[in-house]
Amino acid sequence: MSATTTSEVTTSVSLTAAPSSGKMRLDGQPTNYGDFRDDLNRDGYVVIKGAVPRERADAYSDAFYSYLEGFGLGYDRKDSSTVRRANLPVLNEKGMILAYAVTHEKWVWDIRGEPGVVEAFEKVYDDKDLLVSFDVVNVGFANREDLPENKPWPHQDQDPAKAGFRCLQGLVNLNPCGPNDGGLIVCRGGHILSEQFHKDMADEPRIPAWTPEWFGFTERGMQWLKDHGLEWVKVCADPGDLILWDSRLPHYNVPTQTQQDRFAVYTCFMPVADATQEDLIRKKDAFERRLGTTHWPNAKHVAGTNVATRDGKECSKSRHRPVQEPVLNERTYRLTGIPYIKSEA
Ligand SMILES: [Fe+2]
Repeated sequence: MSATTTSEVTTSVSLTAAPSSGKMRLDGQPTNYGDFRDDLNRDGYVVIKGAVPRERADAYSDAFYSYLEGFGLGYDRKDSSTVRRANLPVLNEKGMILAYAVTHEKWVWDIRGEPGVVEAFEKVYDDKDLLVSFDVVNVGFANREDLPENKPWPHQDQDPAKAGFRCLQGLVNLNPCGPNDGGLIVCRGGHILSEQFHKDMADEPRIPAWTPEWFGFTERGMQWLKDHGLEWVKVCADPGDLILWDSRLPHYNVPTQTQQDRFAVYTCFMPVADATQEDLIRKKDAFERRLGTTHWPNAKHVAGTNVATRDGKECSKSRHRPVQEPVLNERTYRLTGIPYIKSEA
């Protein structure tokens, strides 16, 4: 910190100079990294074009469709009338597949290990020792006639009591995602005003949440954002683009208004240095039992089960291991955190 301050003073560009090394700044102040980090800092989100080469992104999209068809429940990508609850694995109203060990399918791990994805996070943290979340995958179907309605759920994914930048979320987009297609919508610049928001709105009753690491915006909260000049932006992306956003940025996902299905795989990374040994041991256990986590790469929350519940009963297609077990290389194995667990000897 002191070295940075000295450099800023002597070069007289105190507010525009970015540190040459170290974790990137995410404080909304102008930076001059000369790459995606400047946009990420200013807006709270960014689209990294072609993080996954198009050919491989198309192959992952195909793998995703095949995975859904592979349940043998009647879904067929070529027949939109098969987009029905009974023909699909259990999805929540936001389009997330939470069970079936999907997060450890080979194609999901292959996406996590894509060099362009890993390198983006290495750049943000200036660190090659990273963990990746075992987060869910998301399907936003067109023609979702009997699937539960996806209502707006504007939120932040971190505890307002813990201010400042703490987590960078990411998703790899696998299908074309234009202005009217389903996908992420964000409140541009909202990360910067987060602290002020929570001071001003401290007396507003909280929307109930299962974890303090989630904050939902009420109507009054949404009005505050508007009154402070913030705008909601639908994030558009091509297959293979990586979308990054600060967990403080208000966001949610919108259903498609077109015939285009949306496929997204969430990929969140954080430095190993930010995790404790207990976190790493919990994460190892989640990996070995093929359980999922939330977006927190230190396995802050681990799913209790891979069993999907359909209408109050276990889904007939429940499974505890992936259809195709992951094939990890040296880089992706390190992302599990397992090699960083210290032996007790
Ligand atoms: Fe979220």
